[in-house]
Amino acid sequence: MRLILLGPPGAGKGTQATQIAQQYNIPHISTGDMFRQAVKQQTEMGVKAKGYMDLGKLVPDEIVIGIVAERLGKGDCDQGFLLDGFPRTKAQAEALDKILDELKSPLNRAINIEVCHEDLIDRLTGRRVCKECGSTYHVLFNNTAQAGKCDSCGGELFQRDDDKEHTAKERLAVYNEQTLPLINYYEEKGKLANIDGAGSIKSVFEQIKKALRSTGNDNN
Ligand code: AP5
Repeated sequence: MRLILLGPPGAGKGTQATQIAQQYNIPHISTGDMFRQAVKQQTEMGVKAKGYMDLGKLVPDEIVIGIVAERLGKGDCDQGFLLDGFPRTKAQAEALDKILDELKSPLNRAINIEVCHEDLIDRLTGRRVCKECGSTYHVLFNNTAQAGKCDSCGGELFQRDDDKEHTAKERLAVYNEQTLPLINYYEEKGKLANIDGAGSIKSVFEQIKKALRSTGNDNN
């Protein structure tokens, strides 16, 4: 399976990606996670990316395309992959087409998770992330057994800086302007699967599995 996950910030891409990657035994490649890791390690790329991320803006295409091209060239992507948060602009989508052509690895599906604006704000501002293992929770919809502690590893939970309401709204505006047009891009290629992201985490995953079953392993 060679898949991409589309959808606005807070739609549940990361939440679903963990389960999809496990179900189909493919690497989960999240450009957001790659940047957050680089920020934590204070690499040159991390320092550059942080300036954009803190403002809710997109990191420039040339930086993102370079790291994704390098990652897709690694051996663990030979049997498939799940891209989460890439592509986000038309230039990134065209670059991905080129990379996949060169690797002779056509895309199977672009899964687009749809959620209304009000719910997205609630999901983003209530999200909490584990400092240690990166597991994601929500103060209302998916809380931990012990307040402030990760269920998986016991690590402390924190709120992402870009989940504060002002930056979350900016990210949604950037999504509407720069990423939304990609839905048509993949629809025209016959790759799009729209998923209603309003239901429970489990029901969204069931819809995704159903959409992927109808894909089989067809490469068209
Ligand atoms: P990134 O980390 O990719 O952020 P995003 O796309 O904005 O997505 P999120 O991680 O915010 O949301 P999600 O859809 O994964 O939702 P989640 O599953 O956590 O990018 C961050 C930044 O990096 C960007 O702003 C940009 O600066 C930069 N960047 C990254 N990629 C880039 C690129 N390609 N080009 C340029 N710049 C790039 O769920 C959200 C919450 O809702 C959680 O609390 C979860 O528990 C809860 N939840 C999930 N599903 C449900 C459900 N069904 N019901 C109720 N609650 C739910």
